[in-house]
Amino acid sequence: MDSDRYLNCLEDFLVSPLPKSLLAAHPNDAAKPSFTLPPGWETWWNWAVSTPQPWVELLSYYAEQRPNSDIPGPLSQMIDNIKALQLTRSQRLPPVPTGYGAKLHEAQYINANTSYTQTSAKRMSPKKLHEVSAMTAHIVHLLRTSPTLKGVQHVVDIGAGRGYLSWNLRALGMHVLALDASDTQAKGAERQGSYSKSSNDRGSLTYQTAKITPSTLLQLVDEWIIDLSHSTAESHLPSVVFVALHACGSFTTDILRTSVSAIHGNGERRSWSLKAAIVVGCCYNMMEGKGWSPSYFTLSSSHLQLAAQVPSTWLDHQARTEVALRKVSWRALLEATTTESNPTDGCPTPKNRLGRVSNDLYQHWEQFLQISSVKLCKIPIRGMEQFPEKLAMLEKRISTLHALRCLLGSCVESLIIWDRYVWLKEVSGGGRYFEAHLLNLFDQRQASGRNISITLISN
Ligand SMILES: C[S@@+](CC[C@H](N)C(=O)[O-])C[C@H]1O[C@@H](n2cnc3c(N)ncnc32)[C@H](O)[C@@H]1O
Repeated sequence: MDSDRYLNCLEDFLVSPLPKSLLAAHPNDAAKPSFTLPPGWETWWNWAVSTPQPWVELLSYYAEQRPNSDIPGPLSQMIDNIKALQLTRSQRLPPVPTGYGAKLHEAQYINANTSYTQTSAKRMSPKKLHEVSAMTAHIVHLLRTSPTLKGVQHVVDIGAGRGYLSWNLRALGMHVLALDASDTQAKGAERQGSYSKSSNDRGSLTYQTAKITPSTLLQLVDEWIIDLSHSTAESHLPSVVFVALHACGSFTTDILRTSVSAIHGNGERRSWSLKAAIVVGCCYNMMEGKGWSPSYFTLSSSHLQLAAQVPSTWLDHQARTEVALRKVSWRALLEATTTESNPTDGCPTPKNRLGRVSNDLYQHWEQFLQISSVKLCKIPIRGMEQFPEKLAMLEKRISTLHALRCLLGSCVESLIIWDRYVWLKEVSGGGRYFEAHLLNLFDQRQASGRNISITLISN
């Protein structure tokens, strides 16, 4: 099994009948009275109402806590396939698919050392602290162990946010250019700076507010290097490393593309040379355009939303998961219990999105229905004000549907990540230009579910 074949297996699985029909059925549509049950759904649709907590059954089977579950055969087979195909996510190990891991040698690499102690922990949440510490440790490890990166002193933190990572790297003696589009983040970074200065710092930090595009990124680095060389009187061609922690949506792919073109050179002479890029993506829902769609599989906005779920941690906090599932199913139930309002009712344009509502509202259906229908400019259908048994059944079905879709989301995320990895291998010139590696940086239970770093190291 090679990398391309693994990608094909993921795609084939996601377009096979049951996964495809589940991914195509948004809960809001499945709750509509006009919804036609897709072929192959009837057994599990009925099983969901006869089982006390269907999502717990599904997730327990997925987590291998309940191997003898009574969940219907097609669902258990689908979950077996998900488990074999999804990338493993254990911290400090390369993400490889469980079912094929042993054969995907090219994904193996780097024994990351993550025992780095944070120097600027103030004001950081435990989650952020974990992420920034693990990212710093990974960068430090690479700088110390990779022959190409020995002596690198210049780092560009792309999408630096509040600059936690930037300050950490500066405290290690690096020259850091921190770039972010947001003024608010820049102000936060300034405040962060006053907590982080240490007397023996050797490096420098330049924080710049700029909206980055593939063309502006290299230009901004050009300007920074020129400014820096004037102030430090450096004469040699500096080696630079790009880092990006949780670069949202297409920002990740833009950074990867720009990094590849900087390493390739493309005939352009620069006053610096890019030696590596270390990128952790996030927010797939913010991916734009078709520029990075896997070969024959078109990712819908639903796919991208589902790719960002982390069902592997649902059983760790069951009460919270119950509320999250209730949110999805009650919003969908509005489709079954309301009708469009009349323009004469003083609310001419019914809305599709409910927006934010308080968690407390999800305690009582009647109250939820009343307030939500006003927000959506809809009218509750007579007789549906209470929560009849029919709606309770539909709620269970819809939350089961959502749980199944989220389980499939882990294969969608694997497809997105592996597609990026395969593309990098294609443009690496067989390793002549650079090596590409994947690594699970964070523990998903302590930090973001988006824990995979993509690293390019030039050759
Ligand atoms: C999820 S935050 C991560 C921030 C920081 N790296 C961290 O981990 O704390 C993503 C950051 O990227 C920035 N960003 C997104 N798109 C950008 C763009 N095109 N140019 C510059 N910054 C961008 C946002 O303003 C935001 O601060």
